[in-house]
Amino acid sequence: MLRSIARLLRLVAPFLATVGLLAWAILGLLAFVNGRWVEKDAASRARLVVDAARDEVVERWEAGEPASLQELLDRVTRDERISALALCGADGTRIMQTECFPAPLGCAALAPLVGPGSQGWSGRVDVPSGEVYVTALPVGESGASPGFAVVVQDLAFAVRRERLVREALELFFAVLAIAGVVATVAGYRFSFRDWTLDLRRLLLGGGAKRRPEFQPLLRDVEALVARLASEAQDVSGRGAFTPARLRQTLRRQLQGERVIAISHREPFIHERTASGAVTVRHPPSGLVTALEPVMRACSGVWIAHGSGSADWETADRRGRIAGPPGEAAYTLRRLRIPEEEGRGFYYGFSNEGLWPLCHLVHTRPLFRPEDWDAYQRVNRRFADAVVEEADGPDPVVLVQDYQFALAPRLIRGRLPRAVILTFWHIPWPNAERAAICPWHSELIEGLLGSSILGFQTQLHCNNFVESVDRYLEARIDRERQAVVLRGETTLVRPYPISIEWPPRALRDVPPVAECRAALRAELGLRADAQIGLGVDRLDYTKGIEERFLAVEALLQMRPDLRGRFTFVQVAPPSRSAIASYRELDRNVTTLVERINARFGRGGWLPIALRRSHHEPPEVFRHYRAADFCHVGSLADGMNLVAKEFVAARDDGRGVLILSSFTGAARELSEALVVNPYDTTQSAQAMAAALEMPVEEQQARMTAMRMFVAEFNVYRWAERMLVDGARTRRSVRLRERLRQAAGMED
Ligand code: F6P
Repeated sequence: MLRSIARLLRLVAPFLATVGLLAWAILGLLAFVNGRWVEKDAASRARLVVDAARDEVVERWEAGEPASLQELLDRVTRDERISALALCGADGTRIMQTECFPAPLGCAALAPLVGPGSQGWSGRVDVPSGEVYVTALPVGESGASPGFAVVVQDLAFAVRRERLVREALELFFAVLAIAGVVATVAGYRFSFRDWTLDLRRLLLGGGAKRRPEFQPLLRDVEALVARLASEAQDVSGRGAFTPARLRQTLRRQLQGERVIAISHREPFIHERTASGAVTVRHPPSGLVTALEPVMRACSGVWIAHGSGSADWETADRRGRIAGPPGEAAYTLRRLRIPEEEGRGFYYGFSNEGLWPLCHLVHTRPLFRPEDWDAYQRVNRRFADAVVEEADGPDPVVLVQDYQFALAPRLIRGRLPRAVILTFWHIPWPNAERAAICPWHSELIEGLLGSSILGFQTQLHCNNFVESVDRYLEARIDRERQAVVLRGETTLVRPYPISIEWPPRALRDVPPVAECRAALRAELGLRADAQIGLGVDRLDYTKGIEERFLAVEALLQMRPDLRGRFTFVQVAPPSRSAIASYRELDRNVTTLVERINARFGRGGWLPIALRRSHHEPPEVFRHYRAADFCHVGSLADGMNLVAKEFVAARDDGRGVLILSSFTGAARELSEALVVNPYDTTQSAQAMAAALEMPVEEQQARMTAMRMFVAEFNVYRWAERMLVDGARTRRSVRLRERLRQAAGMED
């Protein structure tokens, strides 16, 4: 109620104030004009009376007839306006007066005002009966005649008249105010209704006119809707983070800046086959799985090592080719790495040094000075390529993985204003272990050229910050999760990587039942046979041997599974130029042969080792055909196979067995989490997976699918880009403030 009154008052207050001001001015003017008018009127009446009586007064005076003179005065005062009259001598003596002449009015006081040559005097005078208008006018010329007459007029009539007019005017203004308030409120209500209807029509998408006065409100509503929509997307479930949204983020937060990515592995490789044909191969790489959809969404340039036998004949002179094949969403720029340099860079420093250093898998890291030289040279090559590709001073550069620890600092040296987002896909070891690398300080300094340095987990961030603390003179800002080195800030934060949702590879994969039947047929299994699956590059970090030992333990423990359970391992060879990988290959082959020989019978083999390369739809066909997927890395930054398996199971079935040493185990808690070194535990998990009731499978799988759908790779990229944009804004602000301070100096 009070609020309505206040609102009403606010609405009519301007009108009431205007009316009040007008009334005050008009009434004031009226009083002034009326006063002047009354006085003028009284003065001329007095003059008229005196002029008319003058001769007679002089005559009766000279005739010495005071009674007749008195009678004359009394007659004159019969006029309703003239209330009293007196005749005074020029010296100020009172000669004669009518009865009601006010006593305080003395001739003596007026005499000097009506001296010789004077036209007379008029003015208002206060007497006991009220205010009167007094006029003193000369009468006779000779000293013998009365000097002047004093005419007194009562002003009560004028006061009465003025009050009457004032009251009438006040009434008029009061009525005007009330009528005005009523009209304003009614008009407001009508126009508000129209206005509201138009606005509602406009907001609901009808064809209403976009009135100019709607503009500020519409702008606010549009901004609010956009914000709410983006917040809703943040909290809503599946598919909320999409390529379109990522593009929009790039546009809004980084003004659609061209993204330049660098990685060692290229997203697609052109190979010339034995038959002479050129084919496209997609490498088995977590980095590629994650980054490719991001680049498809953001476009830009992806600089990577051109490693395919037909890579150069399919690209242009500068190694450029549109990607992905047949789509042209981004540009792949293939870079040549001379063979010798590549050996030291890729096989040597990156994969014999850093890879075992960062993964706790008891493979001794090897650091050779010549590999370090090659690593530096290749990092420089890639940094140069970034500078060539940059079309402005502050491009957005995505530096990917452990092959490029030096690139961020090199790029920063050439493009000081670039937004450099570096992501380290593998674990970062603890500080003691990091120091095994003779060039650990250089690596850390190199990485600190980044605006943002992302790791898979908080633990890896902590390890890195700990290493900075130990080996560099830098300030650690734990509150902001940042490291400040020589005045430059790098945010060090966890950004757990993920996959695109839904995965593109699913498009080309048949329904689950078909995949199940086909794989069983291929393997010569019974239709009801159960299948366990592993998908890994042949790498000693993946725990492939431990897994096979667990399969052996399972078949030992559960003889009933022999003949009706097979474990399929998809294991494309990897880094075969390195001795430890060749040794792994031999060991795995020997182990599989031993287990197969031990349990195999009548054409059935417990382990099917598929050592060739599988394109993504093939891998997804396996995911859909399996009863469980075993992800048993002994150490792993994230392991996207776990997330791909979950994404492939839109039937809600299948069990994920996940090593506790993967980044994924921190996110997919509905998996059966195992210690891969504990063969018995892994074997028990496999048995549990094979027997898990459908409802439980569905409950676990649904929860994991919801998680991966929401925390997909677009979200990962968006978080890094948004944080990058924020750092760019604060750097720019600091620059402006510095400039302003410089100008003041
Ligand atoms: O993060 C590790 C990684 O770079 C992933 O992309 C992938 O799992 C693997 O290493 C690829 O290795 P490579 O490029 O040496 O084949």
